[in-house]
Amino acid sequence: MKIAMGNDHTAIELKNIIREFVESKGHEVMDLGTNETGSCDYPVYGEKVGRAVASGEADLGIVICGTGLGISLAANKVKGIRACVCSEPYTAKLSRMHNNSNVLAFGARVIGSEMAKMITEAWLEAEFEGGRHERRVNMIMEIENR
Ligand code: RB5
Repeated sequence: MKIAMGNDHTAIELKNIIREFVESKGHEVMDLGTNETGSCDYPVYGEKVGRAVASGEADLGIVICGTGLGISLAANKVKGIRACVCSEPYTAKLSRMHNNSNVLAFGARVIGSEMAKMITEAWLEAEFEGGRHERRVNMIMEIENR
């Protein structure tokens, strides 16, 4: 799969670790930045990843800021995006299986790199179950049209 990744200045090191991890699993990574250590604005990178996924340029996205919150909120403003902040693998797996999340978010100031790898692995390996979950996800997405 092609995975778009974006982060702010708090998460460059973790992004690089996760980028290598994702590539080691056979995926292609589109690194949409930032790679500048100076303070930057996370909405820029959340939106970039959201647009890459919503347009189909990337299959899925991963966004990282200090908490995972700001950058996921920005990604979620792009139509078609379901970004979920996850701090452990169970939620990450269920975010795919039940919520069909297409962007994973976590916080570089919240979790360590080994936990981030476990979360990423659980998320990448899980698949949307469809069925009753599809109806509910469709209900969420219909909110964008009202
Ligand atoms: C940056 O200081 C911090 O606010 C940002 O990384 C993120 O945690 C915002 O939600």
